[in-house]
Amino acid sequence: MITIDGPVGAGKSTVARMLARKLGYLYLDTGAMYRAIGWKAHRLGIPPEEGPALRAMLAETRLEVHPGKDLPRRQAGEMRVFVDGEEVTEAIRTPLMSLMASAVSRAPSVREHLVALQRTLAENGGVVLEGRDTGTVVCPEARWKFYLDASLEERGRRRHEELRGQQEAVTPEETLAEIRQRDYNDTHRAHSPLRRADEAVLIDTSGITPAEVVRRMLEIISRSGRIGREGLLYRISYPLLYLLCRILFRLQVAGRERIPVGEGAILAANHVSYLDPPLIAVAVGRAISSVARHGLFDVPVLGRVIRWYGAFPVHQEAIDIGAVKESLKRLKQGELLLIFPEGERSADGRMRPPMPGVAMLALQAGVKVVPTLIEGAEQALPVGAKWIRLRPIKVTFGAPLKFSPPVMGKRNKEFYQSVSQRIMEEIARLKEAEQGNAPGKAALIS
Ligand code: DC
Repeated sequence: MITIDGPVGAGKSTVARMLARKLGYLYLDTGAMYRAIGWKAHRLGIPPEEGPALRAMLAETRLEVHPGKDLPRRQAGEMRVFVDGEEVTEAIRTPLMSLMASAVSRAPSVREHLVALQRTLAENGGVVLEGRDTGTVVCPEARWKFYLDASLEERGRRRHEELRGQQEAVTPEETLAEIRQRDYNDTHRAHSPLRRADEAVLIDTSGITPAEVVRRMLEIISRSGRIGREGLLYRISYPLLYLLCRILFRLQVAGRERIPVGEGAILAANHVSYLDPPLIAVAVGRAISSVARHGLFDVPVLGRVIRWYGAFPVHQEAIDIGAVKESLKRLKQGELLLIFPEGERSADGRMRPPMPGVAMLALQAGVKVVPTLIEGAEQALPVGAKWIRLRPIKVTFGAPLKFSPPVMGKRNKEFYQSVSQRIMEEIARLKEAEQGNAPGKAALIS
């Protein structure tokens, strides 16, 4: 189950339809159901407020929706609405019906009635629900929840475009007034007001196309490993790759339990070889994100594969704002992000001074940093080598570090640099500890 909530004009309907079509899911437009009730109240001249008349009307109303299941494929993702056998799919789309819907949606009896109906329609799963309270009230158990929003101007513009296609002439000012009124109604009603579920992923749709919003949603859905190609890929390929790395490199993993669960975190690792990203990914055993040189994405097969595995491009010539934004977004969505603070591979295995970027990301996103040490990859595939040698590799995760912004003074480059330095020191400490554990050294001490 997928829920998409948000205010008027945030782009929910277009996106929900596209998503349902892509996944072959049903599309349940809950707003249309409130509209249908508003439509009938209006037709009968019944006041849209809670009261005996509205309750009696509800008891006698036969509301049917056809969420695309029995429609031909090209119409999948459409939902037709019938009131007492009469189709109202088009008739409920006018500004007057928007206000009627908003008004009846305040009535507890209407909400109770429609929420029960919506739960029945969604109970078999495979549904995209769209509305105001689908993630908070109708299906709080939904696996994926999204909350779409956009600036008031953008929402007004979209709604105006939408209405222009209909008979009634409205000015942009009237549209904005309608949106303000509905925002107020939707967020101030006593029963299930419009609210973002804590766990819902917020997407600001201002200035981005519906296709891009859907792409982001699919990325989140598939990366969480349940459906889609990537889900299957993770489930099947990770155990296989782990086995392969055990055989080829006698891969050892220590401290995996230290990696935070259910929150975004940065894995900050030393960098000695091209093998580092895949081996650390295998060692983590969960889906991770990482940046990779943009040129790699142009390599025919490799580009696709690394994208599947959560890599995204970075331009290294200058500070890449797009990559920074993408990193922050992924961290805030609760993902693990692999970063090499040194920026480049070290040719001799010795650690190099870090760049300030890792600290900046950690502080901006407010996430923990897991110092990560990879050893042996510099032997297996050193800088400049053409062939992989079968040498043992070990990945060690240290205790997560959390940094706070300076109490006094500025978050300037020096500050970030010093935090990055601390991170590298922790990685170095892991290395010392590892060497301390090494049989030769232990023998020496004893
Ligand atoms: O999404 P829409 O514009 O078609 O919704 C019409 C009205 O219905 C909206 O102003 C508030 C109400 N609504 C609601 O209260 N709860 C929902 N889940 C969906 C819509």
